[in-house]
Formats: sequence, C-alpha cells, structure tokens
Amino acid sequence: MTIQLSDKPLLEWAGDSLAIGLFEDAVELTGELATLDQKFSGVLKELITEEEFKGKANSAIFTRVNADSPVRKLIIVGLGKPDALKLDTLRRAAAAVARVGKKQKSKILGFSFPLWNNDPAASAQAIAEGVELALYQDIRFKSEPEEKGSQIETIDLLGFGGQEAAITRANQIVSGVNLARQLVAAPANAVTPITLAETAQAIAKEYGLQVEILEKEDCEKLGMGAFLGVAQASELPPKFIHLTYKPEGTPKKKLAIIGKGVTFDSGGLNIKGAGSGIETMKMDMGGAAATLGAAKAIAQIKPNVEVHFISAVAENMISGRAMHPGDILTASNGKTIEVNNTDAEGRLTLADALVYADKLGLDAIVDLATLTGANVIALGDDIAGLYTPDDAVASQIEKAAQSSGEKIWRMPMEEKYFEGLKSGIADMKNTGPRPGGAITASLFLKQFVKETPWAHLDIAGPVWADKENGYNSAGATGYGVRTLVDWVLGAGE
Ligand code: BES
Ligand code: MN
Ligand code: ZN
Repeated sequence: MTIQLSDKPLLEWAGDSLAIGLFEDAVELTGELATLDQKFSGVLKELITEEEFKGKANSAIFTRVNADSPVRKLIIVGLGKPDALKLDTLRRAAAAVARVGKKQKSKILGFSFPLWNNDPAASAQAIAEGVELALYQDIRFKSEPEEKGSQIETIDLLGFGGQEAAITRANQIVSGVNLARQLVAAPANAVTPITLAETAQAIAKEYGLQVEILEKEDCEKLGMGAFLGVAQASELPPKFIHLTYKPEGTPKKKLAIIGKGVTFDSGGLNIKGAGSGIETMKMDMGGAAATLGAAKAIAQIKPNVEVHFISAVAENMISGRAMHPGDILTASNGKTIEVNNTDAEGRLTLADALVYADKLGLDAIVDLATLTGANVIALGDDIAGLYTPDDAVASQIEKAAQSSGEKIWRMPMEEKYFEGLKSGIADMKNTGPRPGGAITASLFLKQFVKETPWAHLDIAGPVWADKENGYNSAGATGYGVRTLVDWVLGAGE
C-alpha cells in the first residue's frame, strides 16, 4: 500500500472510495461539499439524513454512488466537536475509514480530512499512522492466510501536497510499533531470551546501532544477582541487551529506555494458578518489545539524542534450580532482597537493569514494564500508570503521550508505603501487601536508581487489547513505542 499526497480538488478526485471527515453538529453540506453532493445526485445528504449521522467521533458510514460515477463509494467519518479535535481524533478516524475501505475491497481510497491545529505535517503523519496501524495483520502463525481478494493499494491524502516527510516519519514509527506487536503476539516458544537478543542484533546491523549482549557470565561478573535469580530455573540462558544509538556530533541529551523482558512468566514456585491468565504471560516482555520497537524507529529517524535501549531478558520458570520463595538475592548495587514471592519477578530483572543504566551518566531513564496486576485494577486495560519522583520527566512523558494518543495517568509514589517492603532479614522484600501493589512495585524500583532522573511506566493493561479499538486490533498493541519516540524527539528539539 502506498500513501500519496495531492492537492487535486475534491471534485476532481476519482477512485474507489472517497472518505470525508465531518465535525459534530456541522454536518450540513456547504461550499465544496454541497457541490460534491450535487455531483453525486444528493447521495451524501441522503446518507447523513438516513443514518442520522451527527459527526460524533469514531462513527463511519458509507454509501454507494451511481455506477457510472468516477467515485464508487462515499464514506463519511465523524470527528467530534471542532474545538475538541486532537491528533488522535484524526488517527482514529483514519483507522475507521481504512477498515471500512478494506471491508469494501476498495483499492484506491481518497481522504478529505481537516487539519489539526493548522499543522499539515502533524495531521498527515497522524492520518498515515492511523491507516497503517489499522491495516496491520499478523498471519505468521496461520498455515494459510484467511483473507483473500483485493487489498487497499493506494491512499490519496487530498490537500496534503508536499508532506512527504510526514509520511516517511509515520512509516518509520509504525515499523517500530509493528515490530513490538509481533514480538508481544509471538508465543513464548517463538520469542525467547535468545531470539530477542538476535532481534536486537538484527536491528543493530540493519540500522547501524551499537549492540552489546551480556551473557550470563558477564552478568555474574557485574553482580546482577536479582536478574540471574529470576533466570536460574529456565533451560534457556538469560540475555542482557544493550543497544545504543549515537547521533553524529554532540548529542543534545543522553537517555535510556529500559523494558521488562520476561519472555514467559509462570510465576516461578509461586506459580500462577487457574484463572490467573498464565496462558497470556507471553506478553510479559511487552516493555522489551516497546524498547526494541522504539530502537527501530529512532535508528531510522536519527534525532540528535543519544539513546540506550536496555533489557534484562529471561524466562520465569520452575525446575530443580528455581528460586525458593524466601531466597535472598543480592543486586548489582549491593542491596539484598528477600524474595517473598517469586511471581514478583519483573522488578528483580529491572533492578539490575536500572543499576546498569544509572551508571551510564545519562540525563533521564524511562522504564516500561508489564509489572503488576494491581496497576490494571487501578487504571483498567487502556491506561498505563506513570510513576516518577521527577516532575520534569513526568511532564515530558505526559506531553509525549498526549500527542501519541497513548493513555497515561500519573500515580503517587507514596514513600510511606515502602514500609510494606521492610524485611526482617534482608534490605527489603520484593513484595508488599496487595493494596497499593503497583505503588510498592515502583518504590522497589526506585531503590536501584540513584543518579538519574527516572520514570516508570506500568503497561500491564494497555500492552494487550481484548477487542478491536481505534487503530488497534484485538491482541498486541505495540503500546509505548509512539510515546517513547515522541519523548526522544522532544529531547532533541
Ligand atoms: N507479569 C505480571 C504482571 C501482569 C499481570 C502482567 C497481568 C500483565 C497482566 C507480574 O510479574 C506479576 O506476576 N505480578 C504480580 C505481583 C504480585 C506477586 C506482588 C501480580 O500483579 O499479581
Ligand atoms: Mn510475575
Ligand atoms: Zn511478570
């Protein structure tokens, strides 16, 4: 599929389906649209009336035009109230149109959408992202493709002439999101610590990043006892991934992105029981997937920012070598941890990754992790929790999330709750009481960052979608990639 840009007048466009974005309570057809309606003998007006179309966001309807017309179908999509228009409204409307166009087997699809904030570049990018994200399909594990027949071949964005760079940017970002989606969707017998390390190496090779994979022995030398404790029951070796993007010249900022990379979370000896969703725990490397997806996008965009992409990757399994509940581990900063629950493993892997990143002398660290069920209880499936003691990093991330449309809510890091992690025998336990479980998890992580402004995103909810929503299909969402890329680009401005 190619996205083309043109300034051809709406009335002259020819193709399979023409999609028109309309604002809420402004669905009377005036000017160009009135002429268009006349040209198609009033079908547009008829469609609006018959369907009682009000222009509400996320509603898309279509009608057939008489057979000899240069346009076969007209699609109208609601954009909500004009003053509430967000970039994400355009992204979602474009996704809705792409889905309708695909169902109708349109090959050539025209878009007539308004601008967000008088910004043609940002608007074109959002529309292209919406289309490309919505048309993503994962058939890797099907023996035969389910859908046959025609696919969308060309999309014409009318009125966006000259915005080629915005389309390129959208392609680069979506390539990262789709990598993350593929990594999360692939089961734990396809994505392992070994294959994730290979993926990192392949990205490095293709886009010219530096890559270092620390093997188990290297991690032992660095004293990463917390990470290695999680990895020790598995037949598969742990891999500590460190990819680096360095711009030419002096970078404006130096950042790290760390992702939880547990390729399968059985819970360990505190094994996940029936109804715990153990069969979904292939998604427990969603943070690492977003990290690698962001690496892929950033390596193509080449901002003036140095970025380190880090993940301590392992499986949390059971065997005769497994951690016992109650074991005491020593992390690479010397802190001792009483593992009172082997299912709180993500924070153990992140502890050593945070200590490692903290020593790199960076301006900020953001980690992403499918860390707690408690965060899902607090914020539901769609919203990530943002935990940070640093107001500046918090507002950078909130701003990035706003423009990406990925939902985020800042949570309190109530220091008093650290009492719940007090251990009688070690420096801390890895698990506190159930209430405030996502907060104590973030307070645990904080023990391993001393020098660097840091934020933690708990993405246990939004990493996966139970049903189709906007530009995401049911399944892996690639959550985090777009916000991370936006954050890094913001640091380079
Ligand atoms: N990977 C899970 C968290 C999770 C839950 C991710 C649901 C995605 C969906 C994590 O390792 C875990 O098991 N957390 C425990 C922590 C508890 C033992 C303190 C949890 O949330 O129940
Ligand atoms: Mn767990
Ligand atoms: Zn986990």
